[in-house]
Amino acid sequence: MGKNREIKGGGYLQGIIKVPGDKSISHRSLILGSIAKGETLISGFLYSEDPLSTASCMRKLGVEIPEIIKDKPFKIKGVGLEGLKEPLEILDCGNSGTTMRLLMGLLAGRNGKSFILIGDESLSERPMGRVSKPLQLMGGQLFGRANGEKAPITVIGKNLKGCLVGTPVASAQVKSAILLAGLTASGSTSVIEPASSRDHTERMLKAFGANIEIRGEFRRNIVIHPGKELIGQEILIPGDISSASFWMIAASIIPNSDVTINNVGLNPTRTGILNIMDSMGCDYKITNKKVIAGEPIGDINVKTANRLNPFIIEGDILPRLIDEIPILTVAACFCEGISEIKDAKELRVKETDRLKVMARQLKRFGAEINEKEDGLVINGNSKFIGTEVDSETDHRVSMSLAVASIMAEGSSTIFRSEASNVSYPGFWEDLTKLLKK
Ligand code: S3P
Repeated sequence: MGKNREIKGGGYLQGIIKVPGDKSISHRSLILGSIAKGETLISGFLYSEDPLSTASCMRKLGVEIPEIIKDKPFKIKGVGLEGLKEPLEILDCGNSGTTMRLLMGLLAGRNGKSFILIGDESLSERPMGRVSKPLQLMGGQLFGRANGEKAPITVIGKNLKGCLVGTPVASAQVKSAILLAGLTASGSTSVIEPASSRDHTERMLKAFGANIEIRGEFRRNIVIHPGKELIGQEILIPGDISSASFWMIAASIIPNSDVTINNVGLNPTRTGILNIMDSMGCDYKITNKKVIAGEPIGDINVKTANRLNPFIIEGDILPRLIDEIPILTVAACFCEGISEIKDAKELRVKETDRLKVMARQLKRFGAEINEKEDGLVINGNSKFIGTEVDSETDHRVSMSLAVASIMAEGSSTIFRSEASNVSYPGFWEDLTKLLKK
């Protein structure tokens, strides 16, 4: 049974918080720590369902990962790239696309060992061919349901050969899978994406001592040369800008708000939302900028905007704000004019079809949204009336609907609100802390 939450509209947001650790970096810290030689110390890890799925898979692959306790740093004893065991059990990736896709890349080159990857109902419907196809080009043997496209996925480990891969989608999960496979391929592996996706894997591989080269700035060509042993590191994970974005938008659109979010990751491949907030005319300031463990971070203060201009999202910015589209759709409902989200077909293959689900749910409040094949057209100046809405099991939808409910007149109920645990376990507590009446 899902957990229903009631939110009364009105009030304002005020206070200082710290959002949980970055989800993408948390997954990668476990994976690279596991395949490095020596110990990796991880602090700021995101204690939520998705990264915990990666932890449980890595344990089944023979890596000693202690019980992870929220807010407590922990150490992993790496087993080296060749040290991963053939597991007795299937590897359950839960709801986590990052776990499944990165593991496909990591395991494809474990010659002589076999692996079975499964996921929940949502993950089992998401496209996996985008990962298995390039890995097959490298000599990988991966099989799946629906003609290889869907989980359960079977990986028969093989000796891989490096090659040049042009990915059809700008996806950090696809790119990372290929780079992980390239670590033990014979010869170098080169990845070219149609637009730059988040680069946490490249940064962390470099920090662990991998021989990785980034050629070009816009059409980046990422080359991994095998043969270098990875060495355990200390990793300090910053707050997740994708989690912070709920408060950044909430504070911008809810009258009289003033919120500071400390220690937020500001990797430029993730900050597309700031560009859109600039074009909306949002009132925000970033202070305490520094670089920690190869990732830029800072504190973000956001105050209610005087006026909210409509915006257009299209083209190369998409990968830089891919997870922020649900909350930006909420923002668009309160801008003065028509906003458009284009080139966003990828949203249809996330945890849910986020274009369809956001349009369907926000219309219940009274939003005017037109769904297009690759995006949304949103007529701003909406007046939201409290209603019953449903996360449809999607974490980012659940949290976006919470922000929308505060903007509604009267009270709203969010069904299956617990979906937020996938990426932001303390979300509802933080909301209670920030929301003043
Ligand atoms: C992620 C990449 C993105 C993002 C997801 C996490 C990652 O997916 O939506 O939440 O950690 O690599 P795609 O790479 O499929 O765009």
